[in-house]
Amino acid sequence: VTTDPSVDYDAIKQRHKGNWSAGDYAVIGTTLQIVGESLCEAVDVACGWQVIDVAAGNGNASLAAARRGCEVLATDYVTALLDHLRERAAAERLPIETRTEDAEALNVPDDSFDAVLSTFGVSFTPNQERAASELVRVCRPGGRIGLANWTPDSFVGHMLRTIGTYVPPPTGVRSPLEWGTDARLVELFGDQVADLQVTEREFVFRFRSPAHFVEVFRTYYGPLVMALETLDDEGRAALQADLVELARRSDTARAGGLRLPSAYLEVVATTAS
Ligand SMILES: C[S@@+](CC[C@H](N)C(=O)[O-])C[C@H]1O[C@@H](n2cnc3c(N)ncnc32)[C@H](O)[C@@H]1O
Repeated sequence: VTTDPSVDYDAIKQRHKGNWSAGDYAVIGTTLQIVGESLCEAVDVACGWQVIDVAAGNGNASLAAARRGCEVLATDYVTALLDHLRERAAAERLPIETRTEDAEALNVPDDSFDAVLSTFGVSFTPNQERAASELVRVCRPGGRIGLANWTPDSFVGHMLRTIGTYVPPPTGVRSPLEWGTDARLVELFGDQVADLQVTEREFVFRFRSPAHFVEVFRTYYGPLVMALETLDDEGRAALQADLVELARRSDTARAGGLRLPSAYLEVVATTAS
């Protein structure tokens, strides 16, 4: 695993964890359920498989796998999000186990899962090489790794860069959006897997208006909640105005409301048998 010795990954991770603990990501996560369903079909999970969802949040991929008869362990470093996941699982009578875990240091044995999933989760780890190696380590030989990663040019990519112009991301850490490029996926997984399939897909965010989008995200999307907290009144107003403008420019609605398509890569890797 290549790591940059000049970067304090632990300090950055603590800051990130604070971001994801702020607001209530579960409110937004729930709207992305279709991504987990699509990923489980792409991975072609089998009933009875052992599946781990890494950086599961409130559990889109976990629920999708459990709905297909898999035995699921859902992990995230924000325990409150796993509490939401358990409520969703209980409502559907799905037996999902949850455990507070760091994606870069999973407390599970080698080769222990048939499928390893992460939707818009593992890409946010500061040490990307370490996180990718963990996914491969816990996947059995001939197992599948399924990922959903926002592309740099997606709506979410633009949103993250807009936030970053006001509150710059830590130096020395690569952008999560790089997981949404073929080149970076090959760097992270090329030597470690036998096959790598990548398909570009689109998730559509839907809101009543650009102002409604900003209202929801500034209330529930932890990274924006925390960014706004660090700014003064002028900065807060300017960032929100920029996000309203981004949403207005990105809107593709033809029948009312706000329609924000955001491209992502759906990745299915197969480990060597
Ligand atoms: C955008 S949310 C996605 C959540 C969920 N996978 C989904 O599809 O709705 C990113 C998630 O990654 C988690 N996360 C980020 N870095 C992590 C790490 N190093 N270890 C565990 N979880 C992490 C956050 O707590 C958050 O739940």
